[in-house]
Amino acid sequence: MNKMTIEDIDVKGKRVLVRCDFNVPLDINDKTKITDDRRIVEALPTIKYLLQNGAKVILCSHIGKTKDKKTLAPVATRLSELLNMPVTFANDVIGPDAKAKASELKEGEVMLIENVRLHPEEEENDPEFAKELASLAEIYVNDAFGTAHRAHASTEGVTKYLPAVCGYLIQKEIGIMGDALETPKRPFLAILGGAKVSSKIGVIENLMDKADAIMIGGGMTYTFMKAKGGSVGNSICEDDKLDLAKELLTKAKYKGVKLYFAEDSICAKEASPDAETQVMPSDKIPEGWQGLDIGPEAAKKFADAIKGYKTIIWNGPMGFFEIDKFAEGTKAVAQAMAENKEAITIIGGGDSAAAVEKLGLASDMTHVSTGGGASLEFIEGKELPGIKALLAKEGPEKEEAKQYTTSRPKDVELDR
Ligand code: 3PG
Repeated sequence: MNKMTIEDIDVKGKRVLVRCDFNVPLDINDKTKITDDRRIVEALPTIKYLLQNGAKVILCSHIGKTKDKKTLAPVATRLSELLNMPVTFANDVIGPDAKAKASELKEGEVMLIENVRLHPEEEENDPEFAKELASLAEIYVNDAFGTAHRAHASTEGVTKYLPAVCGYLIQKEIGIMGDALETPKRPFLAILGGAKVSSKIGVIENLMDKADAIMIGGGMTYTFMKAKGGSVGNSICEDDKLDLAKELLTKAKYKGVKLYFAEDSICAKEASPDAETQVMPSDKIPEGWQGLDIGPEAAKKFADAIKGYKTIIWNGPMGFFEIDKFAEGTKAVAQAMAENKEAITIIGGGDSAAAVEKLGLASDMTHVSTGGGASLEFIEGKELPGIKALLAKEGPEKEEAKQYTTSRPKDVELDR
C-alpha cells in the first residue's frame, strides 16, 4: 500500500469529507430498517479516528442505483446508535442544507449528507459536481472499498480538488487481499462460483498465475462440463464461452494448476422451493432438468480438499443458495473454510459474504470483504480508480502531499 492514509495528515480542526460505502440492504417491507449493517460497522474505525483527532467529519455515500432515489436517512440513525453520539443528517448533497450544516460543524462532530446518487452527475463523474462536493471540506478521505472500482464524482472526481488519502477499511481490504494474492501461504486455493464464466474470466486468468488450485462450483460448472463434452440439460450454460472454457482447461494443465469440479449436482426442473430434486452426474443432466447446486459427493470432496490449503479465497456461491434446498453446497464450503484454522480464509464479498453472514460464520474467517464488484476487480488484478486517485507516499505526488502532512499526535488512543 503506497497511498497516504489518515495517519499521514493533520486533520485537527479540518472539515474532512469521508466517502464511505453505506450501500446497505434495506428491508423490503420497511425501508427504514437496515438488514445488514456490516458496511457501517466496518467504517467506524476511520470515523472514530477522525473524531478523536479533532476533525469535523462529513460523511457521504451512495445507496442503491441512481434511478432508485433512495435516502441515506436510516444510515444516519444506525450510525448514531453505533457511535453513541448525534449524527447530523443533511437532506441534500451539495444544496443549502448540506452547506449550512457543514459550515456549522464543530471539531469532533459528525454529519452525513444525502445519497450522492440523487444527482446523476455522480455516476457521470461530472467535474462541476465533484468540485461542489469538494467545496464542503478541506480534506478528502476515501474509505469506500466497495465502490473503489467506480470512477464516480465522489470516489475519483473529488480527488482533483482536495488532498486525498485513504481510510482504515481500504487499507485493511487491500492489505489482506493483496498479501494473499502476492505472497500467499501455500498451497493457495481459489474457490469460484456464481452463474457465469463470462463475469469471472479475468479472475480465473489472473488466479491461474497465482493459485495452486481452483475449485469451480455454481452455474459456471455447466459451461465447463459442456466444453468437456458432457450434456447439461437446461442448466445455465454460456454456449459462446465454450471455446474459452476449453482454453482455460488447457491453460490450467500447462500451468500445473489443479482444477476441482463438482462431479454431481442437485438438479430440478425449476429453481423453486417446491421443486422436486434429484442428484445427477454434472455431465449427464437430461433435457428439462438443470443443475442448481453442487451435489453431496462434490460437497464432501470440496470440504475435504479445503482442509489441505493454507490460503483460501472464495468468490461466488456454489448454487442457488437463496433457496434452502440448493444451499447445501455453499454451506459445506463455508463450514469447511471456517473449520480450517491453519489457513488465511478470505471471502471476496458479494453473495459469498452474504451467505457466510447468513450462516453465522463470518467471524470464523480471516477476512470478509465489504466489496462485491470491487473485490472481484481487485482479485482480477485491476487497479481500482478510487484508490489510484489517492495521494501516493512516494513518487511525484509526494511534494504536493507534504504541505498537508504532519505527524499524528502520539498520545491518541485508537478505539479499533
Ligand atoms: C456494491 O454494492 O457493490 C457497491 O456499493 C457498488 O454499488 P454499485 O454496483 O451500484 O456501483
